[in-house]
Amino acid sequence: MFRKIAISAVSALAITTGAAFAAGEAKHIEDVDFSFQGPFGTYDQMQLQRGLQVFTEVCSACHGLKFVPIRTLADAGGPMLPEDQVRAYAKNFTVVDKDTGEEREAVPTDKFPANDGAGAPDLSLMAKARAGFSGPYGLGINQFLKGMGGPEYIHALLVGYTGEEKTEAGETFYENTAFSTGWIKMVPPLSDDQVTYADGTPATVDQMSMDVSAFLMWTAEPHLNARKEAGFKAILLLGLLSTLLYLTNKRIWAGVKGPKKA
Ligand code: HEC
Repeated sequence: MFRKIAISAVSALAITTGAAFAAGEAKHIEDVDFSFQGPFGTYDQMQLQRGLQVFTEVCSACHGLKFVPIRTLADAGGPMLPEDQVRAYAKNFTVVDKDTGEEREAVPTDKFPANDGAGAPDLSLMAKARAGFSGPYGLGINQFLKGMGGPEYIHALLVGYTGEEKTEAGETFYENTAFSTGWIKMVPPLSDDQVTYADGTPATVDQMSMDVSAFLMWTAEPHLNARKEAGFKAILLLGLLSTLLYLTNKRIWAGVKGPKKA
């Protein structure tokens, strides 16, 4: 009986792992060591600033970030731009005023504009929407240690163009090793040295892709640093509390239990 169960369990495992491998073949997602992964990881402020630059100069031509208030660029744990730079940055965008219905320059309290003219999805939450589980089958360990996979996906997508393209029903598709169907409608957006980083980091396609992916992870999960910090404090306090309770418990019952006999 036990052998039968064991055999069926083993074969079930073999089938599911086989399926997982098969599903993994179609897409190619490279693991990236982002600074914000792992239990103590935090965002790299300079990387978020570079990612913001890539988004502004390249991606915003087609994509919106309609859930992200511009003022959060100054928030602790984010790109932390100085307030005056945030004000100056907001002026890049025009928004429609809710009260007057007229177009005006954006101010920090506005959100980044939506942009779906090119048929491109909003990127505010993309890093979470595309988070896939890529861990050792069903344990969640990789998720905990290496992150959710969303920013890795965006990075893989941006570096995943093969250079092949085809036209179908009047639309051009570009072959991409990370995209689910293998052919995406987004023109390869990046080429080397497309932006000039103020901090002197060489702007390779790989580097820009990593930076903008980190930035998009921040837009999707802006309070990651604060949450990890709170979690860590909670664990410390719970540990302390457990120790105190254990010692109190021992003392309370000491009279009843008496000294330990061997
Ligand atoms: C010329 C317009 C254009 C630019 C510039 C552009 N994109 Fe796109 N993007 C698109 C379109 C169109 C789609 C939808 C593609 C599809 O569904 O086939 C898309 C889709 C995406 C997706 C979603 C893929 C998915 O899994 O559905 C991501 C992520 C993305 N773009 C990221 C970026 C980033 C990051 C940049 C800047 C480096 C960028 N895009 C620049 C047009 C653009």
